[in-house]
Amino acid sequence: MGEEALLVLENVTKRFGGIVAVDNVSLTIRRRELVGIIGPNGAGKTTLFNLINGVYKPDTGRIIFDGIDITNMPPYKRVELGLARTFQIPRPWGALTVRENVAVGALFGSERNLNVLEALEEVDRILEIVGLYEKRNEISSKLTVPEKKLLELARALAMKPKLLLLDEVVAGMSPADADKIVDTIKRIRDELDVAVVALVEHVMRAVARFAERVIAMHQGRILLEGPPQEVLRDKRLVEIYLGEIPSWLR
Ligand SMILES: Nc1ncnc2c1ncn2[C@@H]1O[C@H](COP(=O)(O)OP(=O)(O)OP(=O)(O)O)[C@@H](O)[C@H]1O
Ligand SMILES: [Mg+2]
Repeated sequence: MGEEALLVLENVTKRFGGIVAVDNVSLTIRRRELVGIIGPNGAGKTTLFNLINGVYKPDTGRIIFDGIDITNMPPYKRVELGLARTFQIPRPWGALTVRENVAVGALFGSERNLNVLEALEEVDRILEIVGLYEKRNEISSKLTVPEKKLLELARALAMKPKLLLLDEVVAGMSPADADKIVDTIKRIRDELDVAVVALVEHVMRAVARFAERVIAMHQGRILLEGPPQEVLRDKRLVEIYLGEIPSWLR
């Protein structure tokens, strides 16, 4: 393997009763890689995420993060190692300002011991990168939906992740707002030391704009992977999920 592996899943399986939600999946995500994960409803994408962030333990298989076996590690320890996620439904503390919300992440995330002033400096840098600096003193509950997504992103970034996991960040947004968020995520990869971003998304335009590599799941397994231009044209994927090759790709 050429570039360095950050996350490795080896033969990971997760069952819920009779359902095999994730079926013997092996995959590697490299440092600084932008990966999109797609697939029809029920394909196992969110379950895969929850295995990586520790909400679920696999029935079989191993998960290695940054050289450490995290298979049985609780979620908070994974956060300390540099695994961060955002939630499908943003849940900032509405009564706090934007800056305060992000400061909480900076003070409690990762293995750093920042004092309050250092934390606030870091917070302002992050707010600048995600484009919320002008709104830093606003009460969080007053933000628009896309702004709340950006805040959620900023809170995750404040924990200095090496791997950022994003589940459906652009769902329900206008194409313009979605493009803005995707561009922000790419900027984060470029400007911060956040190594990797993995994105689960049903909006193919956003996936194509974002991902260097797309992993397509179906019935708990990896159906295929590769550059978006190839994966989104794949006959099997079109049949089970896309319906047709997106017009902007033709
Ligand atoms: N907590 C659970 N208990 C029982 N079954 C579950 C649970 N979570 C997921 N499943 C089942 O596992 C399979 C995979 O679900 P998962 O949520 O991972 O799919 P997904 O790819 O994220 O789908 P979507 O695109 O709809 O979000 C589905 O059959 C689902 O019903
Ligand atoms: Mg899901």
